[in-house]
Amino acid sequence: MKNKGTALKRVGIVGLGLMGQGIAACLLAHGDEVVAFDVDASKHAATIKHAAAALRELEKQKLLGADMAKSWKNRLHAAASMSDLASCWLVIECVKEDLALKREIFAQLDAVMPKKTIIASNTSSLPISLLQEGRVAPGRYIGMHWGEPAQIMRYLEIIPGEKTSNATVKACLAFGVACGKEPAVLKHDIRGFLSNRLMYAMIREACYLVESGVADVETVDQSFRNDIGWWALLAGPFRWMDLTGIPAYAAVMEGLLPELTTSTEVPMTMQRMVKRKALGIANQKGFYKYTKASAEQWEKDWGQFTYDMRKLAERYTPKV
Ligand SMILES: NC(=O)c1ccc[n+]([C@@H]2O[C@H](COP(=O)([O-])OP(=O)(O)OC[C@H]3O[C@@H](n4cnc5c(N)ncnc54)[C@H](O)[C@@H]3O)[C@@H](O)[C@H]2O)c1
Repeated sequence: MKNKGTALKRVGIVGLGLMGQGIAACLLAHGDEVVAFDVDASKHAATIKHAAAALRELEKQKLLGADMAKSWKNRLHAAASMSDLASCWLVIECVKEDLALKREIFAQLDAVMPKKTIIASNTSSLPISLLQEGRVAPGRYIGMHWGEPAQIMRYLEIIPGEKTSNATVKACLAFGVACGKEPAVLKHDIRGFLSNRLMYAMIREACYLVESGVADVETVDQSFRNDIGWWALLAGPFRWMDLTGIPAYAAVMEGLLPELTTSTEVPMTMQRMVKRKALGIANQKGFYKYTKASAEQWEKDWGQFTYDMRKLAERYTPKV
């Protein structure tokens, strides 16, 4: 992960929670200047702490040049208000998934940013065309969906809304590549974009299989890991069919598709978890039992696994 010699550019981030901090770390690792804003002033110190740990680890994994490791602190600036973002060519909005809040942020940005500034939303699911409604210069609004940990993953989805200009899409694509991503650009807007639509279709079926008593959670996970998990980094669904023979899939679809769940309700399995206030490893309450130590171990393993996957991806999938 080396800086590709792009000129220093200022990128604004609004919202310094999990995603904003990760995106900041990624940009700092690639030589950008970051101007970071959050209503909660304590989030700036948290962003520095997060970036320090993330960049230290990138360096340890030999994914960070010594120049980036030295210079990042001077390239991270705290913004006291939205107006401090006015010198940025791009602002990435990372506040929580709440349409009204995001609209409020965009109205504030419309008031203080030059019309040429690109404004990207890291929304996980909200249609970009909806976010563009009522905006000043809506052609500069776009979806930029990052993955976590943002400084390691190659994932980035770029989603044009109905009014997004081609120039905005082109600039964001080039930016994504310069950040070490393999950006997936959608032709048009759709709720949930690509990866979330695929993932939620899979999770819905996983819940159905558990709820209908076919297998327990562990067994569904085991089967998923050892089959789909085995090839999914190398091949997407279409490459996988090419590799293994297309007609068999068409034949299976004929009998199987009518039997897959098409429920539009949030599955009971999920509702029960929400009622129990189960956050997963974050509060050691989830589909599995955790102790504090085992939750920490899962977090640690996930971190190292992501680096290992990145190395595999670099070996087998298109170079970025
Ligand atoms: N969590 C994920 O794995 C993930 C992955 C991809 C995309 N996303 C999307 O990214 C966005 C952010 O998610 P997150 O998990 O980082 O949320 P988060 O709750 O961790 O962080 C949101 C941050 O926004 C700040 N904020 C709230 N109101 C603000 C305002 N008016 N001005 C400035 N800052 C404000 C909060 O103080 C908080 O620090 C959401 O749209 C989410 O759907 C999340």
